[in-house]
Amino acid sequence: MPSLKRKQQIVAVASVIGLLAAGLGAYWYTATATGPTSFTLRPDDSAMVSRGQQVYLANCASCHGSKLEGQPNWRERNIQGMLPAPPHNETGHTWHHPDDMLFAITKYGIAKVAKMPDYQSAMPVYEGKLSDADIVAALSWIKSQWPAEVRAQHDELNQRARKS
Ligand code: HEC
Repeated sequence: MPSLKRKQQIVAVASVIGLLAAGLGAYWYTATATGPTSFTLRPDDSAMVSRGQQVYLANCASCHGSKLEGQPNWRERNIQGMLPAPPHNETGHTWHHPDDMLFAITKYGIAKVAKMPDYQSAMPVYEGKLSDADIVAALSWIKSQWPAEVRAQHDELNQRARKS
């Protein structure tokens, strides 16, 4: 028969393990729950959007244009075989991609997202150069500039992408 003290020890150890398991579970839940949704663009958040405009003008406008207009003939590859920067307004195809893909393109680059390691692109990789929050802010500002119906279509696209 274990002594009363021994029983208390067992109970104490068991509850510590229980707490650890619960903590781990909560951590896992938060990590997975915030995974895809942490990249949700917030075009209606005025603080986020004004920060995003600054990030955009300092880092993206030199290629994508201060009015999101992109570079001329952006559909045609140049002599080096690379595409010019596309517009980020409604005439481009930025809004054809869900939030997390836009985030991934900006952070990790086209080659990684397209799983084409040898793909040569003039689009920089911002991992280590911009924080995740700044990337989300810049993309939120871009989205805030789209006409209402394009934003609505992009919201639907996001919903479909999150369900699949
Ligand atoms: C040095 C020029 C340059 C800068 C600076 C630049 N980009 Fe790009 N970006 C490009 C080019 C070129 C492409 C098209 C690349 C390709 O398809 O090969 C592109 C493509 C993209 C795409 C994909 C668009 C689509 O329709 O598929 C996104 C999103 C993007 N850029 C976001 C950004 C953001 C956000 C910034 C600033 C943080 C930025 N870019 C800065 C050149 C640039």
